[in-house]
Amino acid sequence: MATLAETARALVSNRRGILAADESIGTMSSRLESVGVPPTDENRRVYRELIVTTPELSDSVSGIILADDTLRQRLSDGRSFPAALANLGILAGIKVDTGAKPLAGAPDEKVTEGLDGLRERVKEYVSLGATFAKWRAVFSIGSELPSERSVRANVHALARYAGLCQEGGLVPIVEPEVLMDGAHSLAECQQVTRAVLRSLFDELALMQVDLDGMILKPNMVVAGKDCPEQPAVEEAAQTTVDTLRDTVPPSVPGIAFLSGGQSPELATRHLGAMQNCGELPWELTYSFGRALVGPALETWRGDDGNWEAAQRALSVRAVANAAAR
Ligand code: 13P
Repeated sequence: MATLAETARALVSNRRGILAADESIGTMSSRLESVGVPPTDENRRVYRELIVTTPELSDSVSGIILADDTLRQRLSDGRSFPAALANLGILAGIKVDTGAKPLAGAPDEKVTEGLDGLRERVKEYVSLGATFAKWRAVFSIGSELPSERSVRANVHALARYAGLCQEGGLVPIVEPEVLMDGAHSLAECQQVTRAVLRSLFDELALMQVDLDGMILKPNMVVAGKDCPEQPAVEEAAQTTVDTLRDTVPPSVPGIAFLSGGQSPELATRHLGAMQNCGELPWELTYSFGRALVGPALETWRGDDGNWEAAQRALSVRAVANAAAR
């Protein structure tokens, strides 16, 4: 059996990246409805089957993060999703948090839940074929936000999650997402991202998480969606790399970015530009959700006749991101 460090390295090496297909039932239902597909269990299953059976996906995708429901579903040929991925040489991951919930006394901030019973769930996920896991915490930028208590509460949960996963044999993907919502500048995003990552790595050290057996999944440092001054691709890329150099220890094997609502093309261009920012101690790759699968969902729209075109749309993004690396 591979060690945690070997699995972590496998997830980020050979120019491959991770595909996030772990939308909760609620989020997946709205995405299906947005393209006119009824949000049933079966339609979620079919859509996930479209993704994992995309030809040559394993050339650019090392791992796919699944949701709990998908991990228990089967492809039309009867194989479970983890078994089908294993046949392809793609690692199966599992989202283990139970969502970002309002933080007590802080109506504009959230804390991610899911620690209760996690040790037992990790055991079950390993038995179902998962080799890595994901937990996402979110931080909003605003006047006085994020608050110290939201940062502390979320990094504490991330570090305890990471420890429980490593104890049970799963590589934790640790995802602190500073959201793009708002009109904040690139500099403000950098300041908040730096503070969150510093606090996160202090907490990971306190909880004795092995950094060589985890993957960091941060936001890229970009200006808020509504900021009138959008930085050039090279500037955002350089600022992101500078922020990571300031905060992420070299023993972390890989950093796999979320796309966070950037267009698929822009996320790929940022990833490409970062590879030109000098020697880096970690692999820099992608763990995109929307920026990988968005075009495929738009193309499919629940119509069997669009199946192959939708898989081609996913392939185009996957190949472009691997090339950007
Ligand atoms: P996006 O790339 O769509 O931000 O999703 C990545 C992810 O896994 C969010 O938790």
